[in-house]
Amino acid sequence: MRRWQGDGIYFGGDYNPEQWPEQTWSEDVELMRQAGVNLVSVGIFSWALLQPAPDRFEFGWLDRVLDLLHDGGIQVDLATATASPPPWLARAYPETLPRRADGAILWPGGRQAYCPSSPVFRERSLELVRAVAGRYAEHPAVVMWHVSNELGCHNVHCYCDVSAQAFRDWLCERYGDLDRLNDAWGTAFWSQRYGDWAEINPPRTAPTFANPTQQLDFLRFSSDEQRAQLRAERELLKTLVGQPVTTNFMIGTGIKYMDYHSWADDVDLVSNDHYLTAADPQAHVGLALSADHTRGVAGGDPWLLMEHSTSAVNWQPRNVAKLPGQMRRNSLAHVARGADGVLFFQWRASRAGAEKFHSALVPHAGPETKVFREVCQLGADLKALAEVRGSRVDAEVAILFDWEACWGVELDSHPSVDVHYADQLAALYGALWRAGVTADIVHPSADLSGYRLVLAPTLYLVRDADADALSRFVEAGGTAAVTYFSGIVDENDHIRMGGYPGAFRELLGVRTEEFFPLREGERVRLDDGSTADVWTEWLHAEGAEVLASYADGPLPGVPALTRHSVGAGTAWYVGTRLDEPATDRLVARLLDEAGVRPAAQAPTGVEVVRRRDGERSWLFAINHTEAEVRLTATGTELLTGVRCAGGLTVPAGEVAVVREDRAADPA
Ligand code: GAL
Ligand code: ZN
Repeated sequence: MRRWQGDGIYFGGDYNPEQWPEQTWSEDVELMRQAGVNLVSVGIFSWALLQPAPDRFEFGWLDRVLDLLHDGGIQVDLATATASPPPWLARAYPETLPRRADGAILWPGGRQAYCPSSPVFRERSLELVRAVAGRYAEHPAVVMWHVSNELGCHNVHCYCDVSAQAFRDWLCERYGDLDRLNDAWGTAFWSQRYGDWAEINPPRTAPTFANPTQQLDFLRFSSDEQRAQLRAERELLKTLVGQPVTTNFMIGTGIKYMDYHSWADDVDLVSNDHYLTAADPQAHVGLALSADHTRGVAGGDPWLLMEHSTSAVNWQPRNVAKLPGQMRRNSLAHVARGADGVLFFQWRASRAGAEKFHSALVPHAGPETKVFREVCQLGADLKALAEVRGSRVDAEVAILFDWEACWGVELDSHPSVDVHYADQLAALYGALWRAGVTADIVHPSADLSGYRLVLAPTLYLVRDADADALSRFVEAGGTAAVTYFSGIVDENDHIRMGGYPGAFRELLGVRTEEFFPLREGERVRLDDGSTADVWTEWLHAEGAEVLASYADGPLPGVPALTRHSVGAGTAWYVGTRLDEPATDRLVARLLDEAGVRPAAQAPTGVEVVRRRDGERSWLFAINHTEAEVRLTATGTELLTGVRCAGGLTVPAGEVAVVREDRAADPA
C-alpha cells in the first residue's frame, strides 16, 4: 500500500464546480477554508465537459479550478472522470448501451449508461484517463486519484450480446471445457446440457427459475467485469502518476453485487460511501456495521469515508433530515471505526438536476445554517483528532462475510423467502453493538488467529478450505457460533450431502435431516423462554450439548441451540431465528465464554470503540441516547467530555474522545 494519509484527518467532499459560474469558485474556496476542508474530489462527472466531442478535449476550466484550490491550500482527489459517458458516445456507438435481462435498453439521460463489457467503452474511457492523468500528474494540488465512481452502482448486470460473449469467455477461463461447466451447473437437470459455448447466455428472462449456478456465475462474472474497469484504469494510472489510487466502494449500503473482498488489492487505499437508511431509528448501528466491514475489507488498515451526507438524501421514499448533532455523531463513528477521512457528497447543493434536494456542506440557504455551522464544527473536531490518524481499531471478534454466500442465499426457489443474508448478520452485529463490542467483518478466508470469537451468520455457501479454517480456529481454543442455513452448499451451489449444515456438521456436532421453515408470522418458543420465528429444523445433537430445545411449534423437543467442545474451543449452533432479547443473551454468553470485554463499561446506546497505535490508545464514546452518561475512562479529552473522578461524562447526543493515560490492555 502506498502511503496516502496527509498530516491529519481528511475532511471535505465531492466538488462539482462545473455546475456553477466561475465567480462562485472563489467563494467556495473561502468557505472551504473557513470550514477546515482539506480535500475535495473533483471531476467525477465531468467527462462530457472535458471531452465535448470525440476528437476534442477542453481542460481550461479544470486547470483554473485546480489552481484556485491549490492557492487556497485545498488538496484534490482527482477523478479519472470516466463515471458516466457523454451522450455522443451512445450516439456514435449504440452497442455500448446496457441491456436488462428482458432485453430493454438502458438509455443515456441518467448516469452510468454503459455496458461494463464494452470494448468501445473501455477504449474510450482509457483515452480519457490518459488525457486527464497526463495533464495533471504533476499538479501540486492532486494527492489522490479517484477511479470512476461507485463502479457497478446502476449497470452491474448487463445482458446484451457483448456481455453474453464476455460471459462465455469468462466461463471458458473458469472451466476450461464444457464438461466441467455442465457438471458445475448441474445441467443434467431440466434438459439444460450445453453442447457448444455459443448456446450459453447470461440468465436472461426465462419462463421459470434460471439455473442457480448460471445465476451465481453471472453474478461473479459481473463483479469481475466491474473490477476489470478498475484494474484497467489503475494499471494505466500507474504508468502516468505517482499518487495513490482509490475508487469508492458501497459497502453496507444495500448494494450487494460487488465482491469487494476480491477488489481490495486493486486500490492503494480502501474508500467507501455510506448513507443512512433515514427511516430507521437505529440506522447508526447499520452505519457502524458498514464501517467495520469497510475496515475488514481494508485488512484492518485505516480507510477513507469518501461520501456520506450532511443531512437528507434525495433518493429514499421519505428523505428524513438529520437532527442537530447527528451528522457529527455519524462522522465521528466512522473515525472511531478506522476512517482517516470524512468526506461528503457534495460541497455545494445543486440547483438543477436529479440531486438538487440532496443535502451538501453548503445548503441552498447558504452558510448561515445549522448544516454549515455543524460542518465548521466538524472541521474543528477532526483537526483536534489529527493524532489518531494511522492508528488501528481494537477488535477481538470477527464476523465472517462472503458476497458469494450472500448471492447464494438470495437466489430463488429456496426453503423460505424469509431467509436473508443480511438478517442474522445484522442481528448478531446489533447484539455486539449493544454490548459495546467491536467486530471486524472479514472474509471467511481471513486469518482468524487473532480473534477470540468468530461468528458465521447464514454462511450458506462455503468453500472446504474456509470451513476447515473455522474448525482449526476452534480447535486452537477459539469460540465460534454458526447460524441456520450455513454450510449448505459448495462453491457450485451443490448441496453438501449427508445432512445439514453440511460443511459444519462435524465441527458443530449436529446433523439436521429436514428443514421446517415457519409460516409467515408464526412464532415458536424455546424451553429456555426465548422466542423465535422464520426457521426451525429437525436437528440431532451428535456430540454437541443441547442448550435449548423447542417447547412448541412443529418440532417440540428438538434441539434449537447447541454447543460442541472441539479441541481447546467450542462451536455453537443456532438453528432458528432468535428474537432480539434472546440474541442479546446468546451473544453475552459467547462473549463471556470467549473472554471478550467491551471497550469501556457504558450504558446501552453509547457506542464505545478504541483505536490503538502501539503504546497509545484513544477511546471514542458516542452518546446516542437522550441522557447524559458516565463512563470509566481516564486520560486527556480531545473532544467534548467532562472529566470527573476516574470517569468521563458525555452529554446527551455528544461525542467524547479521550487519549488514554496508559494503553488499555492489548487484546
Ligand atoms: C452516491 C454517488 C454520488 C451521489 C450520492 C447521492 O451514490 O456516488 O454521486 O449520487 O450517491 O447520495
Ligand atoms: Zn452488455
